[in-house]
Amino acid sequence: MTSDVQIVEVGPRDGLQAESTIVPADLKALLIEKLHQAKLSRIELGSFVSPRSVPQMASTSDVINHLKGLTAGRKIMSKGSVLVANQKGLDAALESGATHIAVFTAASDAFTLKNINGTIQESLDRFAPLMAQAKTTGISVRGYISCVIGCPYQGPTSPSQVVPVAEALLDLGCDEISLGDTIGVGTPAQVKQLLSALQSTLPLHQTAVHFHDTYGQALVNILTAIELGVKIIDSSIAGLGGCPYAPGSSGNVATEDVVYMLNGMGIETGIDVEKLLMASRFVRDELGLPIRSKAALALTALGH
Ligand code: HMG
Ligand code: MG
Repeated sequence: MTSDVQIVEVGPRDGLQAESTIVPADLKALLIEKLHQAKLSRIELGSFVSPRSVPQMASTSDVINHLKGLTAGRKIMSKGSVLVANQKGLDAALESGATHIAVFTAASDAFTLKNINGTIQESLDRFAPLMAQAKTTGISVRGYISCVIGCPYQGPTSPSQVVPVAEALLDLGCDEISLGDTIGVGTPAQVKQLLSALQSTLPLHQTAVHFHDTYGQALVNILTAIELGVKIIDSSIAGLGGCPYAPGSSGNVATEDVVYMLNGMGIETGIDVEKLLMASRFVRDELGLPIRSKAALALTALGH
């Protein structure tokens, strides 16, 4: 089993995109600063998508401007990433000074049609020129594949639908692929099937897993992925998250719970748990949310 795991904190993007409250840019930047202080280095800072599609992310440029004004701004930006939907998104990302971007498609046409108004193939065609541009400017690119286990519109996804999408994203030059169980329906058996189907296509060092926790399976699915050699785990502070175009999906696995599990397994994350709890409390207070993370609940009850 692996001794070190990287966490990609997606709360400021995946988390806040799903909340009905639109968080002001300065508070988003404050949250990101707190996550950075907890020693989360890879943070998804926001997205450059149509503000009509996701109004919660309309302020991403402002968030980045606020970050640039912080002492830790340069450090945060050096590893932080932004999600981009299209050329307009890439242009905005480049203008903001982002050096890591993520593009997103899915294993289901029904989902991409709702989420990005195009088929999987159309989304890949849209990414091709912008990926080429990103590569020439030294930008690293993560590719998300949503609905890797199930789709809210099409039902179960077979691993054979995921493999060609992963191949296409790697061919376009993605440095890493994040496998999204967007509606959180997967169980360990399906995670095993998926990762074994991808074995000869997607190298483990380029594989990330992104589990939403709709059915309470996220931690056990992460454990399964780790046992199979995956080292990059997406999670979201306070278990925030969801996709506005995936009805029934709930939050991502909570970062607090993932860190508790990894620490208990002796896997090195370098995360400062007390500061992580401060970030969690901050965002819950801002949004008026109860504690969803079991680890945060237990540690808070113990006075942490
Ligand atoms: P469209 O309507 O086909 O695009 O949407 P369009 O080019 O016709 O543009 C429509 C309007 O949006 C125009 O404005 C554009 O200028 C504007 P108008 O002229 O009508 O006033 N626009 C933009 N504005 C700012 N930045 C941009 C941008 N693009 C267009 N980048 C489009 C197609 C892809 C743009 C739209 O469907 C979209 O933005 N979708 C994004 C949806 C989204 O963000 N979903 C959540 C993220 S994915 C996710 O959460 C899953 C993940 O977490 C993994 C998992 O869990 O599985 C990653
Ligand atoms: Mg997601």
